[in-house]
Amino acid sequence: MSIIYESSKQQFHIKGIDFSYVCHVDHHGYLIHDYYGKGVKTLSSGLVNTTKIRSWSPTPIEDDKSYGHDSALFEYGISGHTDFRVPALMTSCNDGDLVGDFTYSEHRIFSGKSDLNGLPSTYGKENEVTTLEIVLIDHRRNQELILSYVLFEKTNAMTRSVKIQNNSDKTMEIKKIMGMCLDYEDSNYEMLQLSGAWARERHIVRRELVQGIQSVGSNRGASSHVHNPFVALMRPGTTEDAGEIYGYNHVYSGNFICEIEVSEYNLTRVIMGISSENFTWVLEPSDVFTTPEIVMVYSCNGIGDMSRTYHDLYNNHLIRGKYQNRERPILINNWEATYFDFTKDKLVDLARASKGVGIELFVLDDGWFGNRNDDSSSLGDWTVNEEKLGGNLESLVSMINNEGLEFGLWFEPEMVSPNSKLYESHPDWCIHCNDARRIQVRNQLILDLSRSEVCDYIIETLTKVLNSGNVSYVKWDMNRNMTDINGERAHRYILGLYKVMDTLINRYPHILFEGCAGGGGRFDPGILYYMPQIWTSDDTDAIERLSIQYGTSIVYPPSSMGGHVSAVPNHQVGRITPIQTRAHVAMYGNFGYELDTTGLSEEELKIISLQVLFYKKHRVLLQYGSHYRLTAFNQITHSCWMKVSKDKRQCIVTMVKIHAMPNGHETRIKLKGLDENRRYRIVSLDTEYGGDELMNIGIEMPKLDDFESVMFYIEDISLQ
Ligand code: GLA
Repeated sequence: MSIIYESSKQQFHIKGIDFSYVCHVDHHGYLIHDYYGKGVKTLSSGLVNTTKIRSWSPTPIEDDKSYGHDSALFEYGISGHTDFRVPALMTSCNDGDLVGDFTYSEHRIFSGKSDLNGLPSTYGKENEVTTLEIVLIDHRRNQELILSYVLFEKTNAMTRSVKIQNNSDKTMEIKKIMGMCLDYEDSNYEMLQLSGAWARERHIVRRELVQGIQSVGSNRGASSHVHNPFVALMRPGTTEDAGEIYGYNHVYSGNFICEIEVSEYNLTRVIMGISSENFTWVLEPSDVFTTPEIVMVYSCNGIGDMSRTYHDLYNNHLIRGKYQNRERPILINNWEATYFDFTKDKLVDLARASKGVGIELFVLDDGWFGNRNDDSSSLGDWTVNEEKLGGNLESLVSMINNEGLEFGLWFEPEMVSPNSKLYESHPDWCIHCNDARRIQVRNQLILDLSRSEVCDYIIETLTKVLNSGNVSYVKWDMNRNMTDINGERAHRYILGLYKVMDTLINRYPHILFEGCAGGGGRFDPGILYYMPQIWTSDDTDAIERLSIQYGTSIVYPPSSMGGHVSAVPNHQVGRITPIQTRAHVAMYGNFGYELDTTGLSEEELKIISLQVLFYKKHRVLLQYGSHYRLTAFNQITHSCWMKVSKDKRQCIVTMVKIHAMPNGHETRIKLKGLDENRRYRIVSLDTEYGGDELMNIGIEMPKLDDFESVMFYIEDISLQ
């Protein structure tokens, strides 16, 4: 067990492979943070002492005038007491009493991990994870806080979450509760966030910390396209391969906030949790509230190493079910091929042409149900439009199966169109605020998943459809953000959503579920707990995808990212890119096509067949190989990345030219992650080099024009 309690110091020491996380209970009973960073064997008492009083600081202990909290490093900052920084917890008792004062009561260290009361979370066996729970009590108001720390023993990852229990006989109100609070002793950090918009999600933003609060978050009812629930702090100058970095990822799909405050003493506080805007929670006597967990990864070897820790952790300890660590099928999706305009014959032709090039799964997107021929109606009416499909679902699925493809179906279960039978019979089932105007986005309203009858309806209607044909894949979409949220609704909605998802994935364990929210509007670890892959972005342009996929890979494993080859000119940006480049970029993660394969030339079909063949041959490497980014995120001339098999005997290197330079020097790329003592062959060039040469000197890449790309398969020559 690598969580140690030293009773003489009342000190807790969490020891990952390369990091130490240390806190202690001080002589007044407060839980003080000591250190989080590169591993130390032990931490001597007194080496870090932050509870010295400062001018203007209040003294919480009457007879200890040298002791203050305002510049202490706290494990969990509470509002209303003597710490003026942004708090992690704000609760109010019946009489409006906001003054929280929590001191240590007891702790437990045990193998394994407690579950989080209906919230998604990382998991591990008893020999893989150790938990520390520290119980703090506010004796005056009878509240109990349980701070949980879980160490994934053989990694540099740990998680934190919090439970609060109302032990009083009065109702209390939670105004703000974060899953994590962490204080650093200085502010010499840069913040990395993944921000953007619809169709340009998760672009990397790096900025220096300054005094005051800097934050990212979402109050849209979804983790959102705009800011991903991930933040990292790193020392200035940290690169892909060097420097200290601390990642924080919120395992939740709804509103969130990450606030980073640099105080007047240059201390840095990071808090992360459900956003407190539009949030309150009433806690009745003896009730418990549990926060989502935050996955924290430390690395002293740069951003890339942190990313690979997240990837391995999520592949092995977050994603579940039949498709965990299993090869994902190559799919054809009809959305950009036909949009709403299709017939049964068109779909079968599309399937046949796709099978001809080796594609494995046919996905029927939006427009197969109710009267839906555009986006103005029918969400909620999940009955097959038999006229449009020329029969029932079963007959369509068997036609597709007979062509040799698996069948997948699109749903948007959380929504209702005002123009639908469901809305006619249950106008009160959507989220709305009394008689206020019902705000529509894309002509749709959101079903109120905080109500159990609504959740039951979704489960039963989807069950009916899924039972009516041989469906082996579901694309679960969500195409608008929430308005009219208040009080407990947004969080209760997410709890309802998780219950619905959990029921359906357990009912259909053979189905591969892919999450989607207008592309990547809910690309978060909460969704990945239920659905092993997510549609990365509605932007399918190969060049735009470079930044989106780069940013996404900072946290999320490539096996969770869907990428499709679409038609040119690209439907989102009008750009024309070679079909080779579109495929190379889509092979970043889970591969597929989203174009009309019935309208392609013989030559294009031949190229696609070869792409599919290549992907099938190297699928495990492309989906699950260790992921190395070989260029910086702001490199404007080209983008380069590689995948290395876990045994380091095979790798694939890809480079895309973004902006060619006239009369420039050839690009030399140093590879990463290989074995320096092995010899490798770059198969298509028939050249051989040592791993040390490939990594230390690098290879000269061929000259490419704008938007062209190259992909090399490289193998250990002893494999031959
Ligand atoms: C969203 C998805 C698309 C497609 C459409 C259908 O925008 O991200 O991939 O499924 O909905 O309406």
